[in-house]
Amino acid sequence: MKAIGITEFGAPEVLQVMNVEIVPPGSGEVRVKVKAAGVQPVDAAVRKGFSPPGTVVTVGTIPGNEFAGIIDQIGEGVSQFQVGDEVLGFRLLGSYADYVIVSEEQIVHKPSRMPWEVAGGLSGAGQTAVTALELLDVSQGDTVLINGAAGAVGTIAVQVARAFGASVIGTASEANQEYLLSLGAIPVIYGEGLSERLRALAPEGIHAAVDAAGGDGLRVACEFVLDKSRVGTIVAFDVASELGIRAIRSQRSKARLAKLIDLYDAGKLSIHIREAFPMERAADAHTVVEKGHGRGKVVLVMM
Ligand SMILES: NC(=O)c1ccc[n+]([C@@H]2O[C@H](COP(=O)([O-])OP(=O)(O)OC[C@H]3O[C@@H](n4cnc5c(N)ncnc54)[C@H](OP(=O)(O)O)[C@@H]3O)[C@@H](O)[C@H]2O)c1
Repeated sequence: MKAIGITEFGAPEVLQVMNVEIVPPGSGEVRVKVKAAGVQPVDAAVRKGFSPPGTVVTVGTIPGNEFAGIIDQIGEGVSQFQVGDEVLGFRLLGSYADYVIVSEEQIVHKPSRMPWEVAGGLSGAGQTAVTALELLDVSQGDTVLINGAAGAVGTIAVQVARAFGASVIGTASEANQEYLLSLGAIPVIYGEGLSERLRALAPEGIHAAVDAAGGDGLRVACEFVLDKSRVGTIVAFDVASELGIRAIRSQRSKARLAKLIDLYDAGKLSIHIREAFPMERAADAHTVVEKGHGRGKVVLVMM
């Protein structure tokens, strides 16, 4: 099969097509013919040599921790899926490939109306957003600030917070203010003067904040949320303890992914695709993600 591997640690161009042997799934596992795989900022870190917890990244590693596709083989003891099922799921690495093998505990059925690009890019950003909102106890009546609301995680966090019954204020550049409005957030432009703009938008205060961008927006969030246990960053782990806030890592589970599917089926979640690239153009996809600006999700599609 074709896959995209790291030929050396470095710039996007080190991502190259490799030929890799296809193996059968083991007990409790399925093999999925991948149709789309999401691209995340962490994949760029992996490309430069970062090993996510529980992995050892080397030359030859295939990046990518989320995918969608069609099951083409099932291993012994698999009870929840059959060959031909359309699924989406998560793994630690290895999703930029024609096939992945995963435990049946790492996949859910794909809603038939969900496009492959959306399915391939839902798992990582979606589960991070849900993890953060759950850890911060976001619920009915809260006003929540989402810093970096237009990005992949932010796009989903805005909509899930709204589904949890919260009012949402989201930061983005001027170019993404209308987009945030369309997601259900009250938009605000990040940068100088953010405190004053927020004070005008939320005179009664802000109860919780999810930071998906770091920088000044996070520090401003800390001025507004009195209970620091309800401020969480998924980015700025280096300053989290100094600020007395939570450093949040995505906690992935089949149940959490199923929750996102329920929201999608209920019409409460839509995912904008920033750009979709053929798998062979993974380097271009990384270049786009590393710009750090734009709406929604970057994905690879497999032919
Ligand atoms: N802890 C975890 O488990 C975990 C999991 C997933 C992601 N992350 C991290 O979370 C971050 C976001 O991930 P992502 O996939 O959502 O990335 P992304 O899609 O690339 O997000 C980029 C977004 O950030 C916004 N942005 C850039 N500078 C900003 C600023 N100063 N203030 C507010 N927003 C700003 C951009 O908005 P404009 O285009 O309007 O500028 C853009 O919408 C990344 O650093 C990623 O590594 C952590």
